[in-house]
Amino acid sequence: MEPVPIHMKFDIEKIRADFPILNRKINGAPLVYLDNAATSQTPQQVIDTIVEYYSEYNANIHRGVHSLSQEATERYEGARKIIQNHINALSDHEIIFTSGTTHGINIVANGFSSILKAEDEIIISALEHHSNIVPWQMMCEQTGSRLRVLPMNDSGVLNLDEYRDMLNPKTRLVLVDHVSNALGTINPIKEIIELAHQTGAAVLVDGAQACPHLVPDMQDLDVDFYVLSGHKVCGPTGIGVLYGKEKWLNSLPPYQGGGEMISEVTFEKTTYADLPHKFEAGTPNVCGAIALGRAIDYMNDIGFDNIFQYEEQLLSYASSKLNSIEGMRIYGPPSNKAAVISFNIDGIHPYDIGTILDKLGIAVRTGHHCAQPIMDYYNIPGTVRASFAFYNTQEEVDRFVNAVIRAKSMLS
Ligand code: ALA
Repeated sequence: MEPVPIHMKFDIEKIRADFPILNRKINGAPLVYLDNAATSQTPQQVIDTIVEYYSEYNANIHRGVHSLSQEATERYEGARKIIQNHINALSDHEIIFTSGTTHGINIVANGFSSILKAEDEIIISALEHHSNIVPWQMMCEQTGSRLRVLPMNDSGVLNLDEYRDMLNPKTRLVLVDHVSNALGTINPIKEIIELAHQTGAAVLVDGAQACPHLVPDMQDLDVDFYVLSGHKVCGPTGIGVLYGKEKWLNSLPPYQGGGEMISEVTFEKTTYADLPHKFEAGTPNVCGAIALGRAIDYMNDIGFDNIFQYEEQLLSYASSKLNSIEGMRIYGPPSNKAAVISFNIDGIHPYDIGTILDKLGIAVRTGHHCAQPIMDYYNIPGTVRASFAFYNTQEEVDRFVNAVIRAKSMLS
């Protein structure tokens, strides 16, 4: 297949120059990084922000009258505002800095363990990552509440008719990812949230895989909780965000006790700080939060609409090239999909393909992608997953597809 023209509203070469790691060679070949769903790469602007923090104003926040502490506090709280504006939260108090999506989900699951009762039900989608399964199983063990699975079909699309039937007055919570990490499915979360609210259930959306591609609008979605990770949106690891409606965050107990999350401590009784500090015990990842704010600014400068349109073209180009390989099976929906391709080739173990691709300088993820129930559904041990970002190119897709063809001929 001849390359089709791919349109972009940004200068791809200029963008690639922002990412020093893209100049690396792996096993003697230029790196083709297609593991963006696991972690995105970091632009120089974010690296500079990290270096500047540790070189110029590293200090603990909210604690010191001294200038460095005030500067660090201002920048940390400034990052909270950047996130608030980005996702259109009503208040910066609704933005809790976490260590990542997993931490955010655990805060909410822990909170609900003191609210839910044995007769309550929780609906969880079949498309969840382990991080949005296991904390709820742990919570159900404590409360006796029932976890019910909202099924998907062969294309990796959730069955909304079944969802309507499952919802009932006992349903207290619905858990769903915005985008599936294993298949790329973009879930109709607005409809899922509306239906849940009609029966009085709250909804937590795992946005880890959506936020690299699109901007979730908290007001438009009317979602109760939304979680995301910094390292998937060009920020550093160890930082993430839990958004919660103020009424919910006020009603949940704190997750961890410690400094900074208190109002007053005596040996008899402790009262807790107001939001957002109630959920930010201990010294937070100050530098990480500031760098995440810079990463969000960086991506907004490129424009998420531009990013989405460009990645869609890469996805469609790569999918049609891969589909022309005999024995190829791509999992997930044909449309309404983020730039993720999960596939297998008949008779070949995904791990073997991944190993050969690595030898050729191409980074993909292989395995169950922390989504074992999805792999069980298809009765497979795992897939090869190529996940694209706005800094990938058509030439990289060509190199990737040629490498898959080569791996196939070596392994069959
Ligand atoms: N959740 C990440 C992934 O899907 C690590 O690869």
